Formats: sequence, C-alpha cells, structure tokens
Amino acid sequence: MTRAVIRSTGRYLPPRILTNETLSEWMDTSDEWIQKRTGIQQRHWIPEEGDVGASDLGYEAAVVALQRAGWRADELDLILFATLSPDLFFPGSGCLLQRRLGLRETPALDIRQQCTGFLYGMTTADAYIRSGLARRILLVGAEVHSTGLDISTRGRDVAVIFGDGAAAVCIEGVSADDDVGVLASALHADGTYAESLMVEAPASRFNPRINENMLRQGRQYPVMDGRNIFKLAVHRLPEVTAEVLQKAEVGLDQVDLFIPHQANLRINQAFEKTLNLPEGKVFHNIQRYGNTTAASIPLALDEAWEQGRIGPGGTVVFLGLGAGVTWGAVIHRFPDA
Ligand code: COA
Repeated sequence: MTRAVIRSTGRYLPPRILTNETLSEWMDTSDEWIQKRTGIQQRHWIPEEGDVGASDLGYEAAVVALQRAGWRADELDLILFATLSPDLFFPGSGCLLQRRLGLRETPALDIRQQCTGFLYGMTTADAYIRSGLARRILLVGAEVHSTGLDISTRGRDVAVIFGDGAAAVCIEGVSADDDVGVLASALHADGTYAESLMVEAPASRFNPRINENMLRQGRQYPVMDGRNIFKLAVHRLPEVTAEVLQKAEVGLDQVDLFIPHQANLRINQAFEKTLNLPEGKVFHNIQRYGNTTAASIPLALDEAWEQGRIGPGGTVVFLGLGAGVTWGAVIHRFPDA
C-alpha cells in the first residue's frame, strides 16, 4: 500500500519580534492580560518597510524543507499552500511560491481553511498520494497577519493574538506494509459559525468590494467572537481526537505527541486535562509565536522534531479548530530510522 509520509520540515520566522509591552504602547492592553488569557509573550512580524507576502515567508520555509528532504523543486508533483492571508486576492499564493521555486508547470493549489489549513492540506496530500496522482508533495502553511490587524484599542482582542510566520513539510508516497505515514484523518466544518471569526471586506458580495466608509468602520479587520470559538474548541478538539484514534485503531497511550493548533494556551491545556494526558504529551510554542494560523501546526512539528519530542517511529496527532468554523485531526506515524 502507498502511504503519505512526512520526510522533512522547515520553518521561517521574520526576525522582527513584538513583545506584549510594545503592543501595550499602541492599545489599551497589558503583558499581564495577554499572558493570563492566551499564554502569548511575543510574536514575530514582518519588517515595517518592504512588500513581504505569505508566499515570501513560505518560500524561505520551503527551501529548508526541500533541502532537508534532499529534493530538488522540479521533483515535486504538487504544491499545496495553506493561508488565510494570501499575497493577493488572486492568483493563489501557491502560484507565487511555484514561480519563486523556479518551476513552470508543477500544479499549485491553495487551501483556504485558516487554522485547519495544515490538517486539510495533509488530508489532501494523503488522498493524492493514495490515489497515485502524486508522489512528492510540498505543503506550506504561511501567514502575514500583521498588515491586516487593527492595532488600536478597538482591535485589541484580535491584534494581540496573531503572529507572522511560515512552515513547510515534504510529503512522500512510499510503499509500505507497516502502518506508517498518515494513518487516518477526520475533517469537519460548520458554516453556522462563519461570522464568529471573519474578515468581512473587501469581498465580492459588496459593490464596490470596499469603500471609504467601510474602511472607517474597520470592516477590513478580523472580528472574532472569542468566547464562542473558545467554547467550540474545548468541546470539539477532544471529540475529533477520539474520532481519528478510533479510525486508525490506535490507543491514546500509543500516541507519543499531540500537536494542537496554537490558538490559545488555555485551550490546549483544557484539551490536555479533558484527555487526562500525562505531562509533556502536548506541544506548546504559542508563547513565542502567537497564533500563526496555517503555519502553527507545521511550525510546532518542526520545533518538536528539533527538540527530540518526536522522532523516527513516533506517532503524532495533529489537531485544531478555527474560522469557518472548521476542525479536524490527522494521525501520522514516522517510519523507523
Ligand atoms: N487587553 C486587555 N483587555 C482586553 C483585550 C486585550 N487585548 N481584549 C479584550 N479585552 C477585554 C474585553 O474588552 C473584556 O472587557 P469587559 O469585561 O470590560 O467587557 C475582557 O477583556 C474580557 O474579554 P473576553 O473576550 O471575555 O476575554 P476572554 O477570556 O474570552 O479572552 C480571547 C479573549 C480572545 C483570548 C479568548 O476568547 C480566546 O482565545 N478565544 C479563542 C480564540 C481562538 O481559538 N480563535 C480561533 C483560532 S484563530
């Protein structure tokens, strides 16, 4: 059977670091409030000067992942690009990344599933590989949030949470009798909550897509019903984890590491508690990066691998919930060394 195996990872964070103290100079917030409610201490943002888009951050992460896999870009059968902050309204950031990688024909597909972009991307890669449509896939998650945040007190509930960054994984189809690679995935969406976390404009439903009045009202900035999203996450994440484990026929104690989307440290601690997981089973790095949306799970994987928290033969569950709302989980086992 052909299995979709993660061969390598890579990450890129722009060097500018924003502390909670800096944000407190711009809006009515405090380091204490941000750390207590979210766990976040700092985040990376792109430089103030210069046009840097999601594809530029994604490119840097992709180069690292490709080099670690020992693959040339022209050996890729497919590029998947997950982002909620695309460089342009269209074409997709995947095409811009493809161009920067020096490719002229390789297909590129954007995934617009926000915080679950990596989970939808892994599942898409798995389907392409199992069906024989592709053998080598590059999956990138990249976000530039900082250019789209309301950094006045009006936007403080959202602005303090998000960070810029990118991460990439190389996924390969391998013939294996053992249970390796993606063992199972579970994806869900519930559009009832579409307005609970959204950017309203510019949008095709408005003519013109945005106007000065809308800009004055701040309708170009993300809005979030934080309490509702929080409640949904705390309920759905344990549920979808049980679902994916059951599909894969893997017990909770056979999982070496859980890598949740990094939306709020308290959400992930609640997940840990609900599943009664022992210390060290859930990976957290939101403290240093904030919420990097589609980049957050592969970014955490890259760090977890570097720190030896997961390695050859290890079983990892990726999980998350975000705008849409969408939620899901993917279970993956790395081959032995
Ligand atoms: N600094 C200081 N005070 C702030 C603030 C900030 N940055 N943001 C909001 N507040 C205020 C609110 O105005 C409110 O004041 P009030 O009580 O006078 O009305 C108070 O803090 C509490 O706000 P609330 O929204 O109830 O806080 P919370 O405990 O729910 O925390 C979030 C807010 C956003 C951190 C939390 O709801 C959350 O993380 N939600 C989920 C986010 C998520 O998972 N998103 C999906 C993935 S992107």
